[in-house]
Amino acid sequence: MMKIYRAHDYQDMSRKAANILSAQIIIKPDCVLGLATGSTPIGIYAQLVAWYNKNDLDFAKVKTVNLDEYVGLPASNEQSYHYFMNENLFSKVNIKRTNVHIPSGIATDMELECMEYENIIDELGGIDMQLLGMGPNGHIGFNEPGSCFTRKTHIVDLAESTIEANKRFFDDVSMVPRKAITMGIGTIMKAKKILMVVDGEKKAKVLKRALTGEVTPEIPASILQLHPDFTLVADDAALSLMNVE
Ligand code: GLP
Repeated sequence: MMKIYRAHDYQDMSRKAANILSAQIIIKPDCVLGLATGSTPIGIYAQLVAWYNKNDLDFAKVKTVNLDEYVGLPASNEQSYHYFMNENLFSKVNIKRTNVHIPSGIATDMELECMEYENIIDELGGIDMQLLGMGPNGHIGFNEPGSCFTRKTHIVDLAESTIEANKRFFDDVSMVPRKAITMGIGTIMKAKKILMVVDGEKKAKVLKRALTGEVTPEIPASILQLHPDFTLVADDAALSLMNVE
């Protein structure tokens, strides 16, 4: 079943999504959260940190698994997703470092890293709630258009459009890694609940295609139509082409 929550703007979207995540933490303090990077979830993490600071949230038993990481970037690189997660969430709450999992982009054997990451998720008992953003081409994690829906954690070649979209964070487009390690769509779809956040007019068209169009690997997010517990929180601009209350 798909639930859609409409938000007025980015701030409202962030607050509504943070509410859903914090409810998950409150009902199951040792839950496994699947976390995402990108600009979209930054406001959610800021809200969770604010509630933690007010003593309304406790991360002591929370476990996390992140979606993806650039191949070749160490955690010390400011553009790595390790760095992002530390900056935006992990260094600001009482989560245990041993409970935090992010695929490594610098393992000597990347194929082994993929298998081990998948094992970690299984050993944790699977993901209770997976947070997702959506790329401008409909990608989720780093599963680019054309990705097979059944894949597990694997290495991908980034689409040119993704390299273009993400170059804003790097000094120069040549610095953007060409490859990434990502949970596959098969991994994501096994999460018990999925929460996607989308904002902005520039994603309105692809969001409409993803949620109301054909389910096709050309729009990776379209698979979410088939997830049994999928929630979207999006702002007015992103929902502007859809008829949603
Ligand atoms: C990256 C991440 C995705 C994210 C996407 C959208 O490619 N791998 O997980 O959803 O960016 O990013 P933004 O939220 O900045 O639009």
